[in-house]
Amino acid sequence: MRNKVTIVGSGNVGATTAHWIASKELADVVLIDIIEGVPQGKGLDLLEAMPIEKRDSAIIGTNDYADTANSDIVVITAGIPRKPGMSRDDLLNTNHKIMNDVVGKIVQHSPNCILIIVSNPLDAMAQAAYKMSGFPRERVIGMAGVLDSARFRTFIAEELKVSVENVTAFVLGGHGDTMVPLPRYSTVAGIPITELMDKATLDRIVQRTRDGGAEIVKHLKTGSAYYAPSAAATEMVEAILKDKKKILPCAAYLNGEYGIHGLFVGVPVKLGAKGIEQIIEIKLTPEEKTALDKSAAAVKELIAVINV
Ligand code: NAI
Ligand code: 2OP
Repeated sequence: MRNKVTIVGSGNVGATTAHWIASKELADVVLIDIIEGVPQGKGLDLLEAMPIEKRDSAIIGTNDYADTANSDIVVITAGIPRKPGMSRDDLLNTNHKIMNDVVGKIVQHSPNCILIIVSNPLDAMAQAAYKMSGFPRERVIGMAGVLDSARFRTFIAEELKVSVENVTAFVLGGHGDTMVPLPRYSTVAGIPITELMDKATLDRIVQRTRDGGAEIVKHLKTGSAYYAPSAAATEMVEAILKDKKKILPCAAYLNGEYGIHGLFVGVPVKLGAKGIEQIIEIKLTPEEKTALDKSAAAVKELIAVINV
């Protein structure tokens, strides 16, 4: 039987996620949005690309949650994106209302699905979805670390003039200005990058990674990034559907891991058929731990505002 992935929100991130998933033939895709016509039009357009791509993914667009029934995975991208001058946190109240509305309907039609949350502010929205869904923590996962790490990897590869395939990197913490890129756990062909570049270069790359979302918003002016974010969500979908047991940085609900209780924060997790199959606890230096705690505190402030 084919896998079924629903994508809520058929805007830039949602539609591009559908594109990656269909072009990799990972699943049949349902695109759903509150706006009438847009998911139908984008869904049909993408479906008509399948003969050219030689893929048999079925794609439909809809405004009716009945069409999403029994999805294996639901990726939630519904919400408003950032405009120049806005922080991710400015989106908090609007996207919280949207999240509650969407999750309520999704749970009704796909009670066994795995939720991948993309809407911002990411960690707070993942927490809202977790509370609203009543799902176990294994089945509610936030997408941010894969994107932030991909940006870090891009800048490392560019700086050292090496293949992106050689570069692994980890970014932990909340998806915000306090995110924690971890140079110590970032390597080129197994060599720690701390041995390949000087501190000033490394600091510049780390800061560019933290500002990665804002850099794209500044160029686009009318919205935020979507190619890399949708590729990141797709990597998570693929890891789950193929039960790959892949270690990826994702926002997960922590129950004491890293000394953090009752909060979504980005940490390395093992993704497989059951969703989050393990939270990996890596050793942090006192400075790294302080940075992670600061990032968790920033998430906690948002959680307090929406009271979830
Ligand atoms: P977009 O504006 O292109 O698309 C959002 C879509 O959500 C629109 O089509 C809108 O009609 C739809 N929508 C709004 N309310 C809805 C509802 N109640 N039910 C169903 N659909 C609804 O925005 P874009 O660029 O796709 O971004 C989506 C979200 O993802 C934003 O909150 C953005 O900040 C976030 N984002 C998060 C990233 C991350 O790393 N976690 C990366 C990139 C974006
Ligand atoms: C990003 O990092 C806006 O969160 C989004 O591009």
